[in-house]
Amino acid sequence: MNETFVPRGMNRRDFLVRAGGVCVSLGLGALTNGCAQSPPPPVVAFSPLPFKDDALEPHISRQTIGFHYGKHHKAYVDKTIELVKGTKLAGLSFQEIMKQAAGSPEKTDLFNNAAQSWNHEFFWNSVQKGGGGKPEGEIRTLLDKSFGSYENFRKEFLNAALTQFGSGWAWLVIEGDSLKVVKTANADNPTLKGQTPLLTIDVWEHAYYLDYQNRRGDYVNAVFDHLLNWKFAAENLTRKVKV
Ligand SMILES: [Fe+2]
Repeated sequence: MNETFVPRGMNRRDFLVRAGGVCVSLGLGALTNGCAQSPPPPVVAFSPLPFKDDALEPHISRQTIGFHYGKHHKAYVDKTIELVKGTKLAGLSFQEIMKQAAGSPEKTDLFNNAAQSWNHEFFWNSVQKGGGGKPEGEIRTLLDKSFGSYENFRKEFLNAALTQFGSGWAWLVIEGDSLKVVKTANADNPTLKGQTPLLTIDVWEHAYYLDYQNRRGDYVNAVFDHLLNWKFAAENLTRKVKV
């Protein structure tokens, strides 16, 4: 179970209060504060965006966020909740549901919706207003070590995002002590292959079509250069990996 992702914008204390004081976890990261003594079973939920819906403009419009987050992401979460209701998977995190449904033909729908729920929450945390640029510190050292240079990494990441045929995701992951760029199709997720995601870009058409139509290249370049949240990547790296 991947325990690397603590949603940056998901103020868990606030969320717990809104949830009625019940400790809940999306299973996307460690939750300990306030719940250490008697942690109840985690439940899946539609988490709030870690930014205002117009924060990513002009690179991702408020309208796109409205549909992408408010319709597509929400639909994945709602469907997951519906599918696990009354089953032994009820009360599990997205990560656990995804893990248990993976590879089961009769649970394909559940896998897709749980994985897309996880992927989207991770994506919203992978972007921020004023992001992009060259990271510094440990992650920069690892990028240089793994790819030769930031420029090589940029080229490889953008190529993965552009060449993912159809719907999917481009990821920066760490596997062992090396950073890698991988791409996954549809709802697939690198954690199922033992890789730890640090950042992702959603390359489903619903992520960019309203703003960029068929110009996926313009979208991924804009996200990479202006929105990538390197602080989030560094947090994921620090939690999981000793360099
Ligand atoms: Fe998406």
